[in-house]
Amino acid sequence: MKTSRVPGFYNMSVTERRELIANMHDLSDGEAKDLFSDQALLADTADKMIENVVGTYSLPLGLGLNFLINEKEYVVPMAIEEASVVASASYIAKIVRSAGGFQTEATDQVMIGQIQVVGCPDIPAAKERIMQEKQSLIEEANQAYPSIVARGGGAEDLEVRILNEDSGSAYNQMLVIHIYVNTCDAMGANIINTMVESLAPSVEKLTNGKVYLRILSNYADRCLARARCVIPTDLLESKGFTGEEVRDGVIHAYEFAASDPYRAVTHNKGIMNGIDPVVIATGNDWRAVEAGAHAYAARHGQYSSMTKWSSDKDGNLVGELELPMAVGIVGGATRVHPTSQLALKILNVESASELAQLIVAVGLAQNLGALKALVTDGIQKGHMALHSRSVAIAGGATGEMVDVIAKQLIESKDIRVGKAKQLVGEYKK
Ligand code: MEV
Repeated sequence: MKTSRVPGFYNMSVTERRELIANMHDLSDGEAKDLFSDQALLADTADKMIENVVGTYSLPLGLGLNFLINEKEYVVPMAIEEASVVASASYIAKIVRSAGGFQTEATDQVMIGQIQVVGCPDIPAAKERIMQEKQSLIEEANQAYPSIVARGGGAEDLEVRILNEDSGSAYNQMLVIHIYVNTCDAMGANIINTMVESLAPSVEKLTNGKVYLRILSNYADRCLARARCVIPTDLLESKGFTGEEVRDGVIHAYEFAASDPYRAVTHNKGIMNGIDPVVIATGNDWRAVEAGAHAYAARHGQYSSMTKWSSDKDGNLVGELELPMAVGIVGGATRVHPTSQLALKILNVESASELAQLIVAVGLAQNLGALKALVTDGIQKGHMALHSRSVAIAGGATGEMVDVIAKQLIESKDIRVGKAKQLVGEYKK
């Protein structure tokens, strides 16, 4: 792909946008037809994915534009029902690309599997035995899933923790074994769960205890992705506000979220507005990403801001985001769902790590989009302008009528479905 800048994309029809993207990505006619189908996921396929299927559920799929990350261009598929998210991400990505783009990095894709052992007659001795046999347990785990070893990953390390050692309660005293597994380009849930289940008999033998839970931890704090941007204040200037005012507003907004969980939850929800749509579009498990991200935001003991905004010595606005990002580009729904295949093709990512880095960059952009709006015009102006189109549709507008009714709704300053119905009635007369 040459560029992710596509001026005028917003004003094209859906068909024109599809044609343009198909050309950009060299999709054959057949491929484009299948991948852009409004019913890409067939009920028959869906029936093999979950239980009791009666149909499929669609979301709008938009493209976040202008993303320049580590000097690579990305067009970002985003599946989301909320108006203004895609526009805001693209707007901030355009500002950041003028400042050189986002810089990102990631740790290896190391996921954690947990084994809970209870009822050990001698807990410290049990821990000792496990640590003595660490290497053979790692080998046993790898034998349970040899294909991940063949792909260059596999179990790498193992640790043991004792929980509630002095509690005196048999129920909450336990040994917890963590096995650390490099899952390469897979999110890794199946790999990890297979490994920890296979280790249970050996662990029971070594500890004289009973194994209950054997499961992946979604607190993937060894699978971290980081994004950073540095923005000169002249790029932040907006109608009625100097760049310095916007920068200071964003930093004050960050400090608010950093100090107050009531604000942090909303602030972080805005970050997840960017993250979830990409996670969903690529067929990844957004509940896992959400759970890990919020836990990470509380890692210092108080739920706080996921991002950090500050000013550097030259007065530039500096944004940073680090999050656990357990996503994959192979396995699971990424392989089964046709739209996920389309999303991965458009993204052109070569590894799970690259996808994870892109996702945090989108989260950082989304956060700045929300904060910039909040510290200047407020969120409602832009939001309602876009929201008015959904309201027009809910009021019965179709085709060309949608934009006309949406405009009338904005002018009337009464953006409600009732009003839209009235305007649609008048339009049809
Ligand atoms: C709305 O979906 C997201 C925001 O509330 C985020 C924020 O307040 O930072 C605008």
